[in-house]
Amino acid sequence: MGISFKQVSHYYPGRKKKEFTIAIEDINWNINEKKEFIAVVGKTGSGKSTLIQHINALLLPSKGTVEIFDKTITSNKKKNPRLRDIRKRVGFVFQFPEYQLFEETVLKDIMFAPKNFGFKEAEAKQKAIEIAKLLGIENLLDHSPFTLSGGQMRKVAIAGILSYDPDILVLDEPTRGLDPKAAEEIMELFYSIHKKTDKTIILISHDMNIVYQYANRVVVMNNGKIAYDGDKKTVFQTNIYKETHLEKPEVLKLIDYLNDKFKYGLDYNNYTLNDLVEEVVKRYE
Ligand SMILES: Nc1ncnc2c1ncn2[C@@H]1O[C@H](COP(=O)(O)OP(=O)(O)OP(=O)(O)O)[C@@H](O)[C@H]1O
Ligand SMILES: [Mg+2]
Repeated sequence: MGISFKQVSHYYPGRKKKEFTIAIEDINWNINEKKEFIAVVGKTGSGKSTLIQHINALLLPSKGTVEIFDKTITSNKKKNPRLRDIRKRVGFVFQFPEYQLFEETVLKDIMFAPKNFGFKEAEAKQKAIEIAKLLGIENLLDHSPFTLSGGQMRKVAIAGILSYDPDILVLDEPTRGLDPKAAEEIMELFYSIHKKTDKTIILISHDMNIVYQYANRVVVMNNGKIAYDGDKKTVFQTNIYKETHLEKPEVLKLIDYLNDKFKYGLDYNNYTLNDLVEEVVKRYE
């Protein structure tokens, strides 16, 4: 099952009548229900956010169909199935999740979605507290969400999604605006959820270091089309990353340097910076 895009295009209306922007065009794309960690990358305006908002029917296709588990979504609003069931199974963290917050307290905000999806009050509260602890924001539960920093708001919004335990997580730049330590914590959290539960994660990121460290599949968007879909090594080993204006991850730049300068002969395997330092030390011993 999972998710399947069939010839999907999305047009946004323009300022004048009959004017429109083609944000994504003729997309065919399949996502497995489990075990995928997909990074969606590409320069600004390439269509990433538009693409992934179709995964839980936040946007409807202008053309084509999106199959989400056993439901089919088309441009025809009246014929579409109930979207609530889809939203429960596919959790979505927006590019600016702080706009999603609106309750009086952080606790109420985190509890809002699970309650909306049918959890009882006590159950929603227990879930909210559990997830807040996981994210290290349990000390903020009584605060108003509007008094928090951007990074804290982001964590609250993420907690709201995790609290109803969706089958698939869709994240639009979840680490944007976080300091490096908080960004790493959040990514490690998503990664551990992915490893523990096999849940599919779809992540938009402009940070190629994060992409290279965590993703097991990379989708490169360019001008509203999928320019590449496959393993992450190929993106940076070929010219794909240059043609689509992506930065090479730091580890790969270091591998290039060691290979050029010292003829190390390393390939683009899953090295971390620590692994490379160890490799250098080993060769000097
Ligand atoms: N609400 C909207 N109304 C009109 N045009 C839009 C709207 N949202 C996006 N677009 C246009 O659609 C195209 C794709 O935008 P999208 O937001 O999907 O790109 P993106 O890859 O997510 O960019 P970024 O990296 O900056 O977030 C762009 O040309 C953008 O200007
Ligand atoms: Mg975007």
